[in-house]
Amino acid sequence: MLRISVIGSGYLGVTHAACMAELGYRVTGLDIDADKVARLNAGDVPFYEPGLAGLVEEHTASGRLRFTTSYEVAAQADVHFLCVGTPQRRGQDAADLSHLDAAVRRLAPLLGHDCLLVGKSTVPVGTAARILEAVSGLAPPSTTVDVAWNPEFLREGHAVADTLAPDRIVLGVVSERSEKVLKELYAPFVDRGTPLVVADLATAELTKSAANAFLATKVSFINAMAEVCEAVGADVTRLSEGLSHDPRIGDQFIRPGLGFGGGCLPKDLRAFQARARELGVGGALSFLGEVDAINTRRRSATVRLVREQCDGELARRRVAVLGGAFKPGSDDIRDSPALYVAEELSRSGARVVVHDPKANQNIRRHHPSLTCADTVLDACAQADVVVLATEWAEFADIDPAVLGAVVSHRRVVDARNALDAEQWKQAAWTYRALGRP
Ligand code: UGA
Repeated sequence: MLRISVIGSGYLGVTHAACMAELGYRVTGLDIDADKVARLNAGDVPFYEPGLAGLVEEHTASGRLRFTTSYEVAAQADVHFLCVGTPQRRGQDAADLSHLDAAVRRLAPLLGHDCLLVGKSTVPVGTAARILEAVSGLAPPSTTVDVAWNPEFLREGHAVADTLAPDRIVLGVVSERSEKVLKELYAPFVDRGTPLVVADLATAELTKSAANAFLATKVSFINAMAEVCEAVGADVTRLSEGLSHDPRIGDQFIRPGLGFGGGCLPKDLRAFQARARELGVGGALSFLGEVDAINTRRRSATVRLVREQCDGELARRRVAVLGGAFKPGSDDIRDSPALYVAEELSRSGARVVVHDPKANQNIRRHHPSLTCADTVLDACAQADVVVLATEWAEFADIDPAVLGAVVSHRRVVDARNALDAEQWKQAAWTYRALGRP
């Protein structure tokens, strides 16, 4: 049976490693962070992802999954998945590929038998071909190392389900041998009818960039409609519903509100444009600059609504921000629209208290200037305005009458269009939302 290594133990790497173990493979997960490796080997996942801790615990206990800091150990595998982060370069649009390049430089010279390197990280098109060339110079001359690209489409918060039941598998390959190995590896999915798209390396890399750009465009499209609705007093939530029944449009990714954030969509959108400019086709993707700008404007529109709710003056006003994660179901706060708003309100002099059901620990660590509360009621005590910034299900269940008893003023800004407006108005709240009258 194929032995697998997964290089990089972040959201993507740990999920992929645990799910490959679940399929029955022997998997070695690698990370350069020894603390993280020790925690993972004890079955402890250092971030919140539904269902993942159970899988890691089960398979580290069974011995099918182990984590290591040793490239020598990882190099024993037959298939190596590259799952390291490709964040945005500081102060630039382009992706930072230093972790990926470092991983290849460390691994390739240790590859003592024929094997396959498979990239899963989101990368600028052309990276796989560059890695293929680099590997042929770094690996021992006696071994054949193939390179393939197999982009990942999992969503945080649904990572395990998306990996164990993918909606498609995209393979970028340069040899029949690597196509055969990957088809064999993914046979449990392919055999039950998961669509498989086999392409060249560049097409596989581009498919991922295009998918995230398309999703971001859908969100910004509906948020552009929200801006127009605001100008005429129309209701973007009804507009979205009206669009959604057209099967060509569908009902997903047209939820209007504070817009997209996280470790993927915003940076991938920028890296894709940067790469297109390098390739001399920047004009083809220039609309993505507008997609990004629409998204950012929703953040300032939210701050503006809160200011209006405070009669134009934010200084010393108490604002409760419900939600800090970039989306519900996750404790990830990277490029979180909710925290952007919280920080901006705080800079304007407001006394901001944030509460998130899962992300409080991350918020306290990375946003020390913000105050965090452990419960919704604590966050909202004496609040002049309550802002719903991440649509956790439990926030939609809040009883506005109960919350009304602890705030100073019953004013709410529903930045995710997630609350029942009528219910809140009936409980004597002044209700404001993005894109609605
Ligand atoms: C995204 C893609 O959906 C995945 O397919 C991809 O694999 C992943 O990036 C990645 O590149 O690794 P993710 O970042 O986990 O996944 O989050 P999404 O569920 O896509 O949500 C992104 C943002 O869009 C969130 O901030 C969410 O609140 C926002 N959003 C989403 C909206 O504002 N409106 C919508 O209708 C949908």
